[in-house]
Amino acid sequence: MAQSVQTVEIRAGRGYTVSIGPGLLGTCGEALAGTVGRCRMAVAADSTVAPLYLESVTESLYRAGFEPCAYVFPAGERSKNLRTLSELLEFMASRHLTRTDCVAALGGGVTGDLAGFAAGVYLRGVRFVQLPTTLLAAVDSSVGGKTAVDLEAGKNLAGVFLQPSAVLCDTDCLETLPPAAFADGAAEAVKTGVLAGEPLFSQLAGGIPEPEALPGIIARCVAFKGSVVEADEFDTGVRRTLNLGHTAAHAIEACSGYAVSHGRAVAMGTAIIARASEKLGWCAAPCAERITAALAKNGLPVRTEFSPERLARAAQSDKKRAGGEITLVIPEDIGRCALKTIPVGELEAVFAAGEER
Ligand code: NAD
Ligand code: GLY
Repeated sequence: MAQSVQTVEIRAGRGYTVSIGPGLLGTCGEALAGTVGRCRMAVAADSTVAPLYLESVTESLYRAGFEPCAYVFPAGERSKNLRTLSELLEFMASRHLTRTDCVAALGGGVTGDLAGFAAGVYLRGVRFVQLPTTLLAAVDSSVGGKTAVDLEAGKNLAGVFLQPSAVLCDTDCLETLPPAAFADGAAEAVKTGVLAGEPLFSQLAGGIPEPEALPGIIARCVAFKGSVVEADEFDTGVRRTLNLGHTAAHAIEACSGYAVSHGRAVAMGTAIIARASEKLGWCAAPCAERITAALAKNGLPVRTEFSPERLARAAQSDKKRAGGEITLVIPEDIGRCALKTIPVGELEAVFAAGEER
């Protein structure tokens, strides 16, 4: 492996390595032969990523002795549903994947969530690897083993936990990302910075990072997320803090019919809960100002057109709800967030407190 590749070890599931650096897709076969062993490999990619990277991945897999087959689906969150999941499972069955075979998610968070879910339920579970091509997938979704699809009732409502066997994050892929998709990833990175604190937060608060800084930022985000996942793999405790901003975010995505991207919704949701926390006395100024300024510097929106009442109604289906209560993540300071459980009926007032006036 080239010298410029950084690695982060994640000790969850059977444990795996996240490799971050340039040129990793073109040599993925060689790298994966050492971790999952030569096998049949179903590569899932969306219709935007496939023309860019699928050939280089499948060629490398062939060269290393794998038998790759490719499943391509329409790009976008609206494909992250049971219908695409079912098509992918039928595809895997039609290509006779067996228990010793593997699924590769080549793409962003949508592909990772979908392909990971398929791997988790096909034959009651086969291995999968993540080949993230968006900044969002690099800093967040490719690590930690959460997989899901959206249901009519809301976001990520069906899924399984399945840690990948390997993550190969080829930073060259970020060069073809449109600016809006890059900003989506910055939203999850800033969220991670709020949770992890310094030096990550300040590194991101300055705005869009120089390309040379990206591998280091990705590695920091992955290492922080990895430490949280190692402490609480199945999301019953501290891992829930990774959902900072996500209660409002998932409501915004659902209200917009998934026209608002996940990253932009996370930016809006993080800004809402930061302002609400300050207004309700859960954190002190200038915490909210620092968070919203960091998001805005990265080209992200910090307000939503949807009313607190509409958002609170959409959040009724949130999976973080338990009975009549819902647990929010409260930024108490940069580098310190807490879980706060409130009655669902109080959510509208929290969202109202977080509105920008
Ligand atoms: P995405 O996968 O839809 O990718 C965004 C867009 O960028 C798509 O149109 C895609 O085709 C395109 N694209 C991908 N790579 C590209 C490249 N290198 N060059 C050009 N275009 C490229 O969305 P996303 O922002 O990567 O991920 C969002 C999803 O991730 C949401 O569904 C969210 O719920 C999920 N998510 C999951 C986790 C988790 O832990 N499982 C964490 C955070 C987010
Ligand atoms: N993205 C939240 C988590 O992985 O727990």
